[in-house]
Amino acid sequence: MDIEILSESGLAHWGGLIAIPEASYPALNETAAQIRADADLLAIFAAFYEKTALRGEWKREWSPLEIDPLVSQRMGERAVQFYLLAHLAALPHTWQFYQKRGISLEIFQATLLDVQFYMQDYFDLHGIWGYTVFPWIWRHLAGELFRFGRLQYQPSSFSGGVTALRRRADGEILLLADPEQPLRPDGWAWGAGLSPEQRTPPDGSSWLPVFEITDQGWRGHPVSPYGPVQKQPVSLPAAEWEVALQKGDPILDLHIPRRDPLNAQTCGESYAQALVFFAEQFPEHRSKALFCHTWMFSPQLQQFLTPESNIVKFQREFYLYPSAGSPAFLWNFVFGDKYPDRASAPRDTGLRRVVLDWLADGKQIFDLPGIMLHSPAAWGSQPYMRRWDERAGG
Ligand SMILES: CC(C)(COP(=O)(O)OP(=O)(O)OC[C@H]1O[C@@H](n2cnc3c(N)ncnc32)[C@H](O)[C@@H]1OP(=O)(O)O)[C@@H](O)C(=O)NCCC(=O)NCCS
Repeated sequence: MDIEILSESGLAHWGGLIAIPEASYPALNETAAQIRADADLLAIFAAFYEKTALRGEWKREWSPLEIDPLVSQRMGERAVQFYLLAHLAALPHTWQFYQKRGISLEIFQATLLDVQFYMQDYFDLHGIWGYTVFPWIWRHLAGELFRFGRLQYQPSSFSGGVTALRRRADGEILLLADPEQPLRPDGWAWGAGLSPEQRTPPDGSSWLPVFEITDQGWRGHPVSPYGPVQKQPVSLPAAEWEVALQKGDPILDLHIPRRDPLNAQTCGESYAQALVFFAEQFPEHRSKALFCHTWMFSPQLQQFLTPESNIVKFQREFYLYPSAGSPAFLWNFVFGDKYPDRASAPRDTGLRRVVLDWLADGKQIFDLPGIMLHSPAAWGSQPYMRRWDERAGG
């Protein structure tokens, strides 16, 4: 079987196209040569390639890739390079998919740029070229995630239990809470802020919101756009309100690659391009909202950072809702594997300093999901939190 990536010219071509770090070529070529020279390794590589690149059977779950014991045994720490190459082996097929659909090389390159970022991270941490983000990068290779300008998008269906209602007269959005999500007395999700080991089953202090569909409309506990569920239920008449988003609806799942300024202009431009792209390429997927679940939606960030912070502005663009998040998501992206604990963590950016001080004070941090239902042109208007504040103020 001819697998392009295992030849020096194949690696140079595909690696060059997606700009993997130049310094990685000698090591990757050496690993490719070892695979070519070992019939057992080659058979495992070819089986992985057939399964993923040819048959599209990627491991979709968010869990570490299983490393074949024989690969571990023969390659030691270079086993990650074996699987990195096995992933990159799909590139010619990914590009074929793009070409068949008439998707540009520019989008291919922008989308696959993540490979470079994660290879560099792995090298910085372990001193060898590789990566372990297999549960993330398969989406790029399978043609299920695309980058336009600043942001990345994956067509998906909404799995949240909240229901978004829109008032016909003025477009006002109100989320009604998930009736199956147990809540803390303060309206945040039960277990929010705790690691999975610290969590306990809901006790007598927890409560469940109501959500009812009646002949007249909807009755439920409203969610503040800042995230917590409000204690007082509301009734929304069907004569005035309509469903804007509910479980199972098509959405675009948003991801934020690193680098580059994250501001309303770059985000709005990116979203506008994405909508044009998906309408052309996947017209059957008529997305109703942008969905995002990120550490940048930890509500505490609005307390740490100034209103000028890009992260705060980004968060304020979305309507947040409860979920049992933990500090781990933020920690991963602000400190990463290099600094697993507070004692070793550096205080070199404003964010790092305030996070460390906050945690030292024993305060909680937890991530949330959020949705955005307004148009790309209105990116920057922060409609949900702004209107909520206006109502509270007056
Ligand atoms: C998205 C991103 C570009 C935002 O950074 P930004 O535009 O600098 O954001 P802000 O203006 O809000 O930054 C405020 C402060 O926090 C710091 N900061 C921002 N993101 C940081 C991070 N991931 N780690 C450490 N510090 C960070 C900034 O350096 C700045 O510090 P300063 O006051 O000392 O200058 C940046 O966080 C990033 O590249 N993240 C990686 C990708 C990511 O997290 N994606 C989401 C995955 S769910």
